[in-house]
Amino acid sequence: PAPAASSSGKEESLKLLREEIGDCRRCKLCEGRTNIVFGEGSADARLMFIGEGPGKDEDIHARPFVGEAGQILNNLINKRGWKREEVYIANIVKCRPPANRAPEDDEIAACMPFVQRQIEIIGPKVIMTLGNVATQSLLRVKIPISKARGNFYSYKDIPVMPTFHPAYFLRNPKEKYLTWEDSAKVLEKLKSEGED
Ligand code: URA
Repeated sequence: PAPAASSSGKEESLKLLREEIGDCRRCKLCEGRTNIVFGEGSADARLMFIGEGPGKDEDIHARPFVGEAGQILNNLINKRGWKREEVYIANIVKCRPPANRAPEDDEIAACMPFVQRQIEIIGPKVIMTLGNVATQSLLRVKIPISKARGNFYSYKDIPVMPTFHPAYFLRNPKEKYLTWEDSAKVLEKLKSEGED
């Protein structure tokens, strides 16, 4: 069997993918964006988080989940004993939708190949999809997040745990325990997958 791609090989592949995206004009979201938010983290990540799309802060800083919702995601990562640098964080669409509206089907379709390639390169053991857009577009299901969350699905044989988008907890902080429960299942799954 072919040896697993080395982390430097993965980093190089991610870099080439970023170059391929270039100064993207494949969909209309290019018109309002400041920066493309490619994603960040370890090319060797065993856990990948996938959000919906950049908000205002992400658009300014060209980094995913650095605003208010990002603080909530950071808390989850830290409380679970993970580190932000050792996971990978990406979004379904890489440019901010105007006024933070949900990305539209044509925009998702134009950008999907890139998150799919990020997953393929990194080869995570588990993916957490954050919210309806990430869950429904990656898994190609129409199940609302309130029903999908807490159960493992599968994307190309990779276990996927849907959970609420962290921004949901800005309005519903008392429900954070639900994502805490979902992440416990992810932790167990990562343990059962061993160190490699
Ligand atoms: N919301 C998202 O879905 N992604 C981000 O990067 C920030 C906020």
